Amino acid sequence: DKQQQDQLKREAATKAAMLVENNSVLGVGTGSTVAFFIDALGQRKAKEGLTLKHIVTTSNRSKKQLEGLGFKVDELADVDHVDLTIDGADRVDEALDGIKGGGGALTLEKNVAINSKKNIWIVDESKMVAHLGDFPLPVEVLPISCEQNFRKFAQEGLKPQWRMNGTERYVTHYGNYIIDLAVDPIPAPHGLAAYLDQTVGVVEHGLFLNVCDQVIIAHSDGTIETQE
Ligand code: A5P
Repeated sequence: DKQQQDQLKREAATKAAMLVENNSVLGVGTGSTVAFFIDALGQRKAKEGLTLKHIVTTSNRSKKQLEGLGFKVDELADVDHVDLTIDGADRVDEALDGIKGGGGALTLEKNVAINSKKNIWIVDESKMVAHLGDFPLPVEVLPISCEQNFRKFAQEGLKPQWRMNGTERYVTHYGNYIIDLAVDPIPAPHGLAAYLDQTVGVVEHGLFLNVCDQVIIAHSDGTIETQE
């Protein structure tokens, strides 16, 4: 149930918060698991005076939560490096490749991740899969050629669906649309990522390959597992 799942997320998040080094530059991701991580970070600040050189985040919600705890938040463009980023993920496979962007913030999430020396993801065991899939793959597209992109994806058998916000198309922070690809399982993640990377009009996609260095998994039997 939800209470048990929240407890699992909290345990993985607390473990991740222990790995944050004093005076480092920290990236903070998006989502309900990360919200527990921010709680734990606040506790370290209160108890041991944890200070960070800079913090960057991938969502306004994380930003507000951090500021509420007295942390100052900077823009990615204003820091010269990020030491460690802690984020959630939507699905993670055995190679620690993942699908992210369920929340629609994939472009900022990928930019923060790629510019971090180290990336740690915190998940409960329900996110772990043998093969990527089982979750629609978000693709952020420019409005100017989005109809062409959508038709092409349909022809390629990628099962495109517009991300909706009620009866309107969902609009990203950058004014773009999201096409979710329901292809499941994703037969060749690296091949699909290369195809999307070279498709004009695609701003970014939710395949995060060779990005994650370590995943902290909370299991329903109460154990916490680290894979790297
Ligand atoms: C946001 O776009 C995603 O990549 C999140 O990292 C992901 O949805 C994790 O969120 P939860 O911790 O709430 O599952």
